[in-house]
Amino acid sequence: MMKKVKIVLAVLGSLSVALIILGVTASIYLKNTFLDFETEYTALASVKEIQQDGHSFLDLNANKRLDIYEDERVPLEKRVSNLLSLMTLEEKIHLLKGSGIGSAIGLNEPGVGIPGAVGTLVATPRLGIPTVYLSDGPAGLRIEPKRKGEDRTYSSTAFPIASLLASTWNQELVYAVGNAMGIEAAEYGIDVILGPGMNIHRNPLCGRNFEYYSEDPVLSGYIGAAFINGIESNGVGTSVKHFVTNNQETDRDINDAIVSERAMREIYLKGFEIVVREAQPWTIMSSYNKVNGTYASQSEYLLTGVLRDDWGFEGLVMTDWFGGRDAAAQISAGNDLLEPGTKKQWDALLEASEDGRLSSEIIDRAAGRILTLIFKSGKLKRPNFSNNPDLKAHAEISRMSASEGMVLLKNENALPLENIKTIALLGITSYDFISGGTGSGDVNEAYTISLEEGLRNVGFSINKIAKNIYESHKAAHPQEFVKSEGLEAAFDTSLPPEMTFTAEQLDAIVAASEVGVLTIGRNAGEGGDRVEVDDFLLTTLEKKMISDASKAFQSAGKKLIVVLNVGGVIETASWKDQPDAILLAWQGGQEGGNSTADLLSGNVNPSGKLPVTFPVNLSDHASTQNFPQDGEQQTILGLINNMMLGNKKARPEGKKIKNKDYTNYEEGIYVGYRHFDKADLDVAYPFGHGLSYTDFEYSSAAVTLEKDSIQISVQIQNTGKRSGKEIVQVYVSKSNSTIDRPLQELKAFTKTSSLESNATEELQINIAVSDIRYWDEAKNAWALEKGRYTVKLGSSSRDVKQEYTIEL
Ligand code: BGC
Repeated sequence: MMKKVKIVLAVLGSLSVALIILGVTASIYLKNTFLDFETEYTALASVKEIQQDGHSFLDLNANKRLDIYEDERVPLEKRVSNLLSLMTLEEKIHLLKGSGIGSAIGLNEPGVGIPGAVGTLVATPRLGIPTVYLSDGPAGLRIEPKRKGEDRTYSSTAFPIASLLASTWNQELVYAVGNAMGIEAAEYGIDVILGPGMNIHRNPLCGRNFEYYSEDPVLSGYIGAAFINGIESNGVGTSVKHFVTNNQETDRDINDAIVSERAMREIYLKGFEIVVREAQPWTIMSSYNKVNGTYASQSEYLLTGVLRDDWGFEGLVMTDWFGGRDAAAQISAGNDLLEPGTKKQWDALLEASEDGRLSSEIIDRAAGRILTLIFKSGKLKRPNFSNNPDLKAHAEISRMSASEGMVLLKNENALPLENIKTIALLGITSYDFISGGTGSGDVNEAYTISLEEGLRNVGFSINKIAKNIYESHKAAHPQEFVKSEGLEAAFDTSLPPEMTFTAEQLDAIVAASEVGVLTIGRNAGEGGDRVEVDDFLLTTLEKKMISDASKAFQSAGKKLIVVLNVGGVIETASWKDQPDAILLAWQGGQEGGNSTADLLSGNVNPSGKLPVTFPVNLSDHASTQNFPQDGEQQTILGLINNMMLGNKKARPEGKKIKNKDYTNYEEGIYVGYRHFDKADLDVAYPFGHGLSYTDFEYSSAAVTLEKDSIQISVQIQNTGKRSGKEIVQVYVSKSNSTIDRPLQELKAFTKTSSLESNATEELQINIAVSDIRYWDEAKNAWALEKGRYTVKLGSSSRDVKQEYTIEL
């Protein structure tokens, strides 16, 4: 017996030792490969200034002389080529990858770097070249709000999600949001913001749609360009992502998007093309997935052919985090920077340079683009930053922009709330508003204003019975209401269980309030797609709550309003007839509750319009058969294994699984309204739809052709009683087309300023004739179909106010 015990103890002992050795080896491997492998390249703490010819210069390489690259009067190109000539091959190769993922997970030593900054352009201390910092993402900075040994916080402003910004259709306003974000980045020492996200909403189930603008590339392109120009006006760069066809999260690291060239050019590339033309962003981020068989980050065709040769992109391309598999092939293809960088990639590049797979010209090309960004970033000029952005001012911009992008879907004399004091709030989300989605697109904001707080802030009282029921429900589910934190939060899209009401409770609530507001919440994010049941579709409980509450309020002669605090499209067709009004509040950032209250109260007149169709059924989308349906969510371990260690491989030929290993974009160009129009399908709410508290009339429109551009003018009059803004959407159709093409396509849009009652504004809109072309697959080029076109001015894609024909 004793002997057996001894054997068991000995086995257990050896197992523990083996596990400890394994653990230690793994952590040393992780540290040296992913976290801390830059030991010899620490940025200089300070650089001296020297005087020459009455000018002062930073003596970056401390040689007490002015070198060409140190001379700010010299054109950038010359400075970069001088610097390249002073660098060793090893130093140039060192530049081609970031410094690891350590800082992203807050592993900085106190006082070093910017905790939470997810990547860097590495320093070259011998030549005085500093570290440049990259931070997510489209809705605001994602830096760590707390730092070791410090009491203060470094919170960032959570601005509205991208889909909401697109719903404003207001380029000036989006520029202002970008500008605030750029200022905040500069104040926190961030040099490049990883956004905007420009992928197309191909299907409502994509978990990251909230980070992207629209189902339409023209709306995405112009809104994206405004955002980029706003940020970059502060000497802070952007990284436009994810180039390209990263339209699903499921198996994003191996998925091969099989797409026709026409769909690529007209839909998936088009928005990126517009931002390159209108904003020339500093950087573009290649996507994880493959496109027609080649990793996007290894595709010379996309990164050099399309991006640089066809469009004239001048900036650098970086990978998505740990994206792609072959470092040398990436750099050769035109993917200049590998983020966040690993020791393995560094070694692979050195090896490829030694064995001739990576030429010195290609290394110079990539290093040159990286140095250009470092010079542009101003990190040299402003090494010190305040760490004190004006968070109050930015909160105001967040509030104002969110209220402009919320969309009033339905309103039957319910809104604005006039002569009303007490509101009953139903639905758990009313008390805990969702500011944005999860994953890298989430922001570490200081607070989120709930709808309850927002309504109180504009003077309403909140019904106590409904509130008490919420509090008891919360107390009965203590675990489910605890929010996950840190890395776990990045992948947790779950919400606490919804509450129910008995008929008696509802009657009591209705009797003690003048109106009911019921919020439906949804969350989604990076690493997983949504599912149809209980996500796109409402749950049985939610449907019952809407139906019971609508009946209870309406039978007492009162109104019930539904607020949608969601990041993506949900089903509305089966229940939208029941409530009196529906407001799509999206996820409005940290001020979401205030912005929603501004609209409900009538302090702000709604002027947002849908950047995406709300279909009747999910299956109405042409992409449904070719979109993952099982909503598999990435885990932290999966992230380490699949992405960091690059262990995940596509299944072998013959065993490949549809919508995982590959996705056939069989619907081609028929995405969103292009499909619903062509297939003559009813929709719940069409692309471009959105109501106002006032009315507009379109008159005196004129459409003329001048040289290479279609010039449109139209007068918009506010014929209602409240001041408000109208968005004019221009759709172009080809009459009697001989090719397969959508019935109509958005080609331009504009928004009036705030018009007082009775006021009129004349709007001018131009469309380049070249924008009317389609991609001719036979010729592999853009082509213009001659003949008659109809130009439609609409208040939505299905509400055309004026139509004109022109001959091209
Ligand atoms: C995301 C990117 C993000 C990067 C850095 C990746 O997982 O796909 O959008 O910018 O991480 O956080």
